[in-house]
Amino acid sequence: MHGNNRHSTNTSGDISTTDRVPPSGIVSGPVVSGPVRRPPSYFDLIASELDMVETSLRDNSEVKYPLLAEALSHIVSSGGKRIRPTLVLLSAHLFEPGPDLDKLIALAASVEMLHTATLIHDDIIDGALMRRGSPTLHTMWSRGATVLAGDYMFARSASLAAETENVRIVKIFSRTLQIIVEGEISQAFHAGGIQSKADYYQRIYAKTASLIETSCKTAAVLAAASEAHIQALQTFGHEIGMAFQIVDDVLDFIGKSGDLGKPAGNDLRQGLYTLPVLKYIEMGFPIDATMDAVLGGDRDSVKVDHVVYRVKDSPAIVGAMQEARDFAHRARRALENVPSGTYRDKLEELSYYITDREI
Ligand code: IPE
Ligand code: IPE
Ligand code: MG
Ligand code: MG
Repeated sequence: MHGNNRHSTNTSGDISTTDRVPPSGIVSGPVVSGPVRRPPSYFDLIASELDMVETSLRDNSEVKYPLLAEALSHIVSSGGKRIRPTLVLLSAHLFEPGPDLDKLIALAASVEMLHTATLIHDDIIDGALMRRGSPTLHTMWSRGATVLAGDYMFARSASLAAETENVRIVKIFSRTLQIIVEGEISQAFHAGGIQSKADYYQRIYAKTASLIETSCKTAAVLAAASEAHIQALQTFGHEIGMAFQIVDDVLDFIGKSGDLGKPAGNDLRQGLYTLPVLKYIEMGFPIDATMDAVLGGDRDSVKVDHVVYRVKDSPAIVGAMQEARDFAHRARRALENVPSGTYRDKLEELSYYITDREI
């Protein structure tokens, strides 16, 4: 959800009769990323529940317009690490006797559905051509049709959250959606230029950590955990959520598009200065003329590539990763306050995975 630049990779903002539908066969095109990519080893305990989440996601992609249904089901089944539903399931199982299974699956599917909807809109705003190894929807449809597909997913995610029949969860869910959208708005309308680290943290909380925090917190609420336990999981989710987005921002510099299944180097191209750049400046590395131009708003792709290369090759990357690890470390401290056992161990492992991941 980057930047001020509205890319026009795809035509008009409205839905004309000619671009209303994707060209035939395109939504079933090659999926480089393959099937759902789950992080290693955390899943044995919850494998069957994650399968139920997949089924729910597919069921909730059904809509009476076949092409829209095909596109939505392609998006939900074309990959994705499923971090958010994993957190819901592991967090809920910390508590005995655990919540009602149908409600738990609905909650896990709802956070993933909300995430997927934000990605559809994010890719329009970022002008990204690839997501989860496949062409993005807005490269095949008009922007108007793509916005509606995202809206439809938002609506289904809200219905899924409501299936928990828990007013507190629905309130948390709707507040989170508001935070994400406000983050998007502030990013789209901010005046440009380098922001402070405090602004950066605020932005990554809004766009990413808020939903990861909500995944952990609502799971505890559904499991009727004590307020102290709910608070501990909220903190855990907040801290790993911040770490998660910092790593995403680092991978945008050091990752390869083919591995990531989405474009690398895109943030700077969108005029978005993330932690690696802020660290580069903070650590006092030399700013040559090209870098000065790019930091001043020049989007020339050769110049942007030069800056990506400079930052990537500097200790700013290690510095940014250290901040991510500090967040993950604070997350593990919060975890000390929840019931011990296998599920807590898995959440701890997951906190390490988040900073070690390469996709
Ligand atoms: C991508 O999220 C957007 C961010 C919030 C960084 P993920 O990295 O969880 O994307 P998928 O679901 O695995 O594709
Ligand atoms: C996206 O952040 C966060 C949301 C969709 C809310 P990014 O723009 O960094 O995500 P990627 O890198 O495109 O996956
Ligand atoms: Mg993006
Ligand atoms: Mg990113």
